[in-house]
Amino acid sequence: MILPNLKDAKVRTNKEVAIKTNEYYIDSELEKIGKGKKYFVKTYGCQMNEHDSENIKAILEDMNFIETDTMENADIILLNTCAIRENAHNKVFGMVGRMKHLKSNKPDLITGICGCMAQEEAIVEEIMQKYKWLDIVFGTHNIHRLPQLLKEVVEKQKQEIEVFSIEGEILENIPVKRDNKYKAWINIMYGCDKFCTYCIVPYTRGKQRSRMPEFILNEVKELVKDGYKEVTLLGQNVNAYGKDLGISYDMANLLEDVAQTKIERIRFVTSHPWDFTDEMIEVIKTYPNIMPYIHLPLQSGSDRILKLMGRRYTKESYLSLYNKLKKALPYSSITTDIIVGFPGETEEDFKETLDVVKSCQYDSAFTFIFSPRIGTPAAKMEDKILLEEKEKRLHELNELVNMYAKKANDTYVGKIVPVLIEGVSEKSSDIMMGYTDTMKLVNVKGAEEFVGQIVNVKITDAKTWSLDGELVS
Ligand code: SAH
Ligand code: SF4
Ligand code: F3S
Repeated sequence: MILPNLKDAKVRTNKEVAIKTNEYYIDSELEKIGKGKKYFVKTYGCQMNEHDSENIKAILEDMNFIETDTMENADIILLNTCAIRENAHNKVFGMVGRMKHLKSNKPDLITGICGCMAQEEAIVEEIMQKYKWLDIVFGTHNIHRLPQLLKEVVEKQKQEIEVFSIEGEILENIPVKRDNKYKAWINIMYGCDKFCTYCIVPYTRGKQRSRMPEFILNEVKELVKDGYKEVTLLGQNVNAYGKDLGISYDMANLLEDVAQTKIERIRFVTSHPWDFTDEMIEVIKTYPNIMPYIHLPLQSGSDRILKLMGRRYTKESYLSLYNKLKKALPYSSITTDIIVGFPGETEEDFKETLDVVKSCQYDSAFTFIFSPRIGTPAAKMEDKILLEEKEKRLHELNELVNMYAKKANDTYVGKIVPVLIEGVSEKSSDIMMGYTDTMKLVNVKGAEEFVGQIVNVKITDAKTWSLDGELVS
């Protein structure tokens, strides 16, 4: 049993990051464990968490488990969790209740929790006290150990908890079962060293570790060979890519090299406003296969709150970056993340946030009420604002954000835009869905035979969250 430890999770040293190419292994014993059995993995978090689930699924398939999309049919259920806000916690424990019920009818069912919540000390304590029947708990640093941990569970029939609180390594041989046949996630870096005062990610994911460019580029080249059309380069702070590598190679270099593989579409998330360089802007402008879409989290428009958040930029410097991006890439869409109700946020501070939203007129925004996370500095800050007031601010912000989202979408009506058709839309089986280069969701009539292809679509109608269009022959 190895338990998570908050103190260790905070540590950052100059120790070189180990790159391991044969840490994951499987043998004939482990391959037998899943024979004739089914697995169900549910994902709660960000794109990185989704990509981890793709690794977990591939590992389970190496052990000969088969995927099922119904929990009731599964022999193993894993919840890949997120710790970013309190509501994530509630959702997971709701699901844990359902798993208990299933297990009472099927005692051999293996149940488990992994992901960022598993990295939290308090959560694992709660599991040990109240959920002794949960079979397995593992964290973000030891996904590759899943076969060995499952073997222990099967042989010893007791709760197996293994969570490392370490700065982290880079493991290069973990298999992946991609959910999408045309679009792929690629980790370009792990962890985060920014330590924004509200955020739990630096504790759940370890220190910033960039992957070596050759591993990333090989992955992209393989995907091109396999017919993939789009890659999304993932990291908590992609602009800071390479700074920890000790070679002079940064995000602008990586973007350029990925663009030269000729993959048709390249996206990248998330960009921290702090490290966005002019070289990056130049590369995005130069290569048509780097998509004109930038997610640029604001968090707050008040300098006082930004300082308390430890974001390292001001309202003015954010706006000047925003304007520089729009000037260089006028066609691009820009989205953001905003937190309301950070401890001590006054009505004036909130007005500053609204002011930035009015000035930027984002294509869309993810908006959140501040959620205190144990172990982060902001959780200890005095917070006198009533929840009611925070909800009122969120509502006011959302109204504004939605108004601009609709306004941005309206400008597409009548235009012809490139859309990667992904499959059947949720609306109706004879309508297809896909995304524009600028990351707008489009429902397209008459594109059945174009799944997996980038086609020209004429936009006929705009909603707040999506566009309607028809194929241009
Ligand atoms: N690395 C990204 C953010 C990843 S978390 C960045 O720096 O931009 C995604 C979003 O969740 C954040 O942008 C923030 O808006 C929100 N978030 C993070 N911690 C939060 C908290 N404690 N309460 C509310 N929202 C939070
Ligand atoms: Fe969290 Fe800040 Fe790191 Fe983003 S940059 S993951 S918000 S600590
Ligand atoms: Fe992602 Fe949630 Fe972890 S946002 S990094 S899964 S805390």
